[in-house]
Formats: sequence, structure tokens, C-alpha cells
Amino acid sequence: MEGAISSRPNKRIAVVTGGNKGIGFEVCRQLARDGGVTVVLTARDETRGAGAAEKLRALGVTDVVFHQLDITDASSIATLVDFLEARFGKLDILVNNAGVGGVEYPQELDANDEKVSSLHQFAGLDSNQRLEWMVKNVREPIDAARKAVETNYYGTKHVTQALLPLLLQSSSQGRIVNVSSEYGLLRLIRNEEVRRDLNDIHNLTEERLDEVLDKFLQDFEADALEAHGWPTGFSAYKVAMAATNAYTRILARRHPTLRVNCAHPGYVKTDMSMGSGVLTPEEGARGVVKVALLLDGGPTGKYFTKGEEASFV
Ligand SMILES: NC(=O)c1ccc[n+]([C@@H]2O[C@H](COP(=O)([O-])OP(=O)(O)OC[C@H]3O[C@@H](n4cnc5c(N)ncnc54)[C@H](OP(=O)(O)O)[C@@H]3O)[C@@H](O)[C@H]2O)c1
Repeated sequence: MEGAISSRPNKRIAVVTGGNKGIGFEVCRQLARDGGVTVVLTARDETRGAGAAEKLRALGVTDVVFHQLDITDASSIATLVDFLEARFGKLDILVNNAGVGGVEYPQELDANDEKVSSLHQFAGLDSNQRLEWMVKNVREPIDAARKAVETNYYGTKHVTQALLPLLLQSSSQGRIVNVSSEYGLLRLIRNEEVRRDLNDIHNLTEERLDEVLDKFLQDFEADALEAHGWPTGFSAYKVAMAATNAYTRILARRHPTLRVNCAHPGYVKTDMSMGSGVLTPEEGARGVVKVALLLDGGPTGKYFTKGEEASFV
């Protein structure tokens, strides 16, 4: 599972979730290559994760070690914590990148299938047209919605909670970067009470976030999304991302010695976007890495889009 790495005593240690492909893979590559960071590339699948770490080493990026992590599995999280404690005794950077789309992709358009790129010409379409195409070509069953909430919000939160003690051991200010999305912006939620509560950062609690997500899933099941002002089109993804953004702000408030931020990578060509994005994974990862490497004393509790600070709303 693990690989050989040169661990110099003062090198920073980063964990990246969902590091086997897409933006996560590129974040691992750039952090290790340009950031001078020892990267623990994690993935839920041993073969895919070990293969990705091997690929990086073959590219000359040697300060990478693989460890299995399914962010929705408590025992998998605990095993990672044990490994980090024993091997490094601290963590400097956590990039919560792993996520799912909260939709069912049509089989014939499976993004792992090379047919996608030849079947659909995105050239000539702007981002909105590409996103519209995506919405038309996916289904949003309740199981996929639950999975998005479970993975993108609760998985991120559980990994973060488990790794907080190690981040607090960092001699620089421990960094948490939640890879987020402009789909999590509050303006997409028409329900005024929800929008107001998620933005009321001085009073917002994790319990309120649980209530919001429970109510969202109830409304989803009751086919009452529009009626109750929830976003539609990648609905669960949008709500889970809004919750993750809000959680980021709660954490930043609670842990002023850490730097806790969200980073939207832009619209990136990956499996999640069925290759429809306008940026390469390398370009998308750049903004995420920039936030991960912000200097001590830098911003915390903020949202960044493509590396630049922007509004949560
Ligand atoms: N692509 C975009 O345009 C875009 C835009 C805004 C934000 N984002 C965000 O960027 C992040 C990366 O997305 P991507 O576009 O690179 O998608 P991707 O290529 O589909 O990669 C998603 C990664 O998450 C992993 N993952 C999913 N569920 C997991 C779990 N339970 N435990 C551990 N790993 C899990 C996947 O592992 P497997 O390979 O095992 O499935 C994969 O490594 C996501 O958080 C996404 O929401 C993407």
C-alpha cells in the first residue's frame, strides 16, 4: 500500500483525497513537484491509487506515497490517521478533493469510455451550453442525491474531523482546502431561510447544517425541490457544496490557528464533467494548489475561484 519516500524532517506533509485521477491527481503532482511537499495520495481503490502514485514516480515526482482512503468509511479514515501518526506525527495540508456528481451518468456516455469525446463535440459551445448539455444527459435519482450528500459533505467533514488533531500539530498553520464549486454558491438557493442561515456565519452550527441537508433530502424524495426553493439540475451536488462551503466557514471560525478555505477549480474536463469542461485538470488544480500554499497569516474562511478570492454568495 505504501511507497518509499524521502521524508526530510521539516518537509510539509499533505493529504489529498481522491488523488487517483482528475483534479486530485494533478493537485498531488503540483504539490509534490512545485510545492516541495511530501504528498500522501489517497484513493478509495487500492489498485487505482497505487497506480496513480506509480505514475507520478515515473514522471519524476518522487515525494509521493499512496494510502487507501474511502472518505465515507470510518474504519478507512481511522487507518489513515494511524498511518499518519506513526509515519509523520503531524499533517500540514489537507486537500479534501474527493467527490461525486450526485447524478447517474448514462451508460453509453460513461466518461471512462472514449466514445464520449468522439460522440459529443463540445467545441463551439460555451460553458453554459455545456452545462445545459450535462443536465439534459444525466438522471438524478434519490440514491445518487444521498450519495452526494454522504460523500461531498459528510465524507469531507468526517475526514477533516479525524485529521484535525494532526493538523493542529503542524508547525506552520495547518491548511485545509475544501475543493468546492461555484455550484455551491448561495445565490443558487432560492429558499430564503436556508440561504440566510447558511450565510449567518456567526450563528451557524453543524446541527443546523444537518437539518438543512435532511430537509433537502426529504423534499427531494417528495418531489418538492422547486416548491421549496432548492436548486435544480445537479441539485444534490449544489446543496452538498453549499453545506461544505458553510462548514469551511464554521471550521475557520472555530480554529483561528488554521487556514481553512474553499477552492473552486473552474469547469474542468474530468470524468465528473463527462469531459465537457473548458479547463484541463492541470489548469483546474493550479488554483487549488495556490490556496493550499498560501503563506502563513493568509486568508481563512474564504472562497476562492481559480485561485482568486470571491464571494460565497
Ligand atoms: N470537474 C469540474 O468541473 C469540477 C468543478 C468544480 C468542482 N469540482 C470538484 O473537484 C473535485 C474533483 O473532481 P474531478 O472533476 O476531478 O472528478 P473525478 O475525475 O470524477 O474525480 C473524483 C475523485 O473522487 C474520488 N472519490 C469519489 N468518491 C470517493 C470516496 N467515497 N472516497 C474517496 N474518493 C472518492 C474518485 O475516486 P474513484 O476514481 O474511485 O471514483 C476520484 O478520485 C470534486 O470535489 C468536484 O466536486 C470539479
